[in-house]
Amino acid sequence: MSEWTPDSWLARAAQQQVQYPDPAALDRVVAEMRRLPPLVTSWEVESLRDQLARAARGEAFLLQGGDCAESFDDCRPDAIAAKLKILMQMSLVLVHGTRRPVIRVGRLAGQYAKPRSTDTETKGGVTLPSYRGDIVNREGFTEEDRTPDPVLMLRGYERAALTLNFVRALADGGFADLHHPEYWDISFADGARHAAEYRHIVDQIRDSISFVSAITGVDSAPLRRVDFFTSHEGLALLYEAAQTRTVPRRAGHYNLSTHMPWIGMRTAQLDGAHVEFHRGIRTPLGIKIGPAMTPEWLRDLLDALDPDREPGRITLIHRMGAGKVARHLPPLVQAVIASGRRPLWVCDPMHGNTESTPQGYKTRRFDKILAELEESFAVHGELGTVLGGVHFEMTGEDVTECVGGARGLVESDLERAYRTRVDPRLNYEQALELALLVARHLRRGS
Ligand code: PEP
Ligand code: CO
Repeated sequence: MSEWTPDSWLARAAQQQVQYPDPAALDRVVAEMRRLPPLVTSWEVESLRDQLARAARGEAFLLQGGDCAESFDDCRPDAIAAKLKILMQMSLVLVHGTRRPVIRVGRLAGQYAKPRSTDTETKGGVTLPSYRGDIVNREGFTEEDRTPDPVLMLRGYERAALTLNFVRALADGGFADLHHPEYWDISFADGARHAAEYRHIVDQIRDSISFVSAITGVDSAPLRRVDFFTSHEGLALLYEAAQTRTVPRRAGHYNLSTHMPWIGMRTAQLDGAHVEFHRGIRTPLGIKIGPAMTPEWLRDLLDALDPDREPGRITLIHRMGAGKVARHLPPLVQAVIASGRRPLWVCDPMHGNTESTPQGYKTRRFDKILAELEESFAVHGELGTVLGGVHFEMTGEDVTECVGGARGLVESDLERAYRTRVDPRLNYEQALELALLVARHLRRGS
């Protein structure tokens, strides 16, 4: 393989990129981003890699989730706090179910670029470039809105920094204190169908903490704060490359825009720019794999992206669609077993289960999401591998984007609070319900 540099991807074909009309303006933005401080540090990145390695061995569990596409407008304290709250609540439920540490990774603080299946969108006879995320262009349907604007990368970097700043302050300041679950309670949780089961779990955890403190006389200080990590699709390569740098006293290049980028299904070509860029950076990497992935392709991707077989380096996030897991997943798992690798396997039950209603809403059915999770646990159970995590599109707010769940949302409910920028997310109750169901499943299996 040829030599890697932070810019070697420029010589490869890059899918899903845009042409900026003013190259000089683009150069100015990239130069400024290169000068600005990183969003995350190499210490955090290395810590996450260790934790993911533990999850791959079955000693921890990954909860990754958040918006399909973050929007600049949602960089608000209430929206950010709601995302942390649901991540906290789900993770506690999963800790209780798995009896293992849960690693919390948000699709957060940088999930601003989206791959699209078509380059253009036509409305009322007018054809314009597709919306590709707030970091690239704007959602409005005018020529000006849809023209890629490099300054949006800078605005995205700043929004990511503001988001992270708030997340870190909350996490350090006691918001996530396990002694005080009321800090991250959500008001409408009381009316939720699963509130009682959730409260029972929280009470049990609180009782265990007080019991241990009482008999040991030791205050469990580590339980007063938790880690949150960030992740996003490593799609807009100019943004990613501008945050890629060396750090003192560690070898190699780090992409310090996030703790864990992933390579999406649409940009996983072996000879493409995204694989070239990511093979040289030191962050843990997610790879999305769908029904089109072949065992040979996956083997080659792993050889390219993880030649040294580093524990924690690779997380394989499969998203096959309900009813398709038993056919598409086993050959991939078997190929990985045969290669002697032990990546972390994670199920994304969202992206293979997107459909459109007759009214034109993109939605996902709770039952199918759950079915894909169950099918995935079954395949890993049969093949002797560990399903060590889940990946959801969800929000801490009361949206109506996915149908089903305990409250029985139906298609005609979708218009009430359909707010997603791209894909439909689980709302607060649906997300908590799924965590409870996954936790029950894991408890039964252990
Ligand atoms: C996503 O995670 O939002 C996404 C586009 O996923 P995939 O690449 O798996 O389709
Ligand atoms: Co999505």
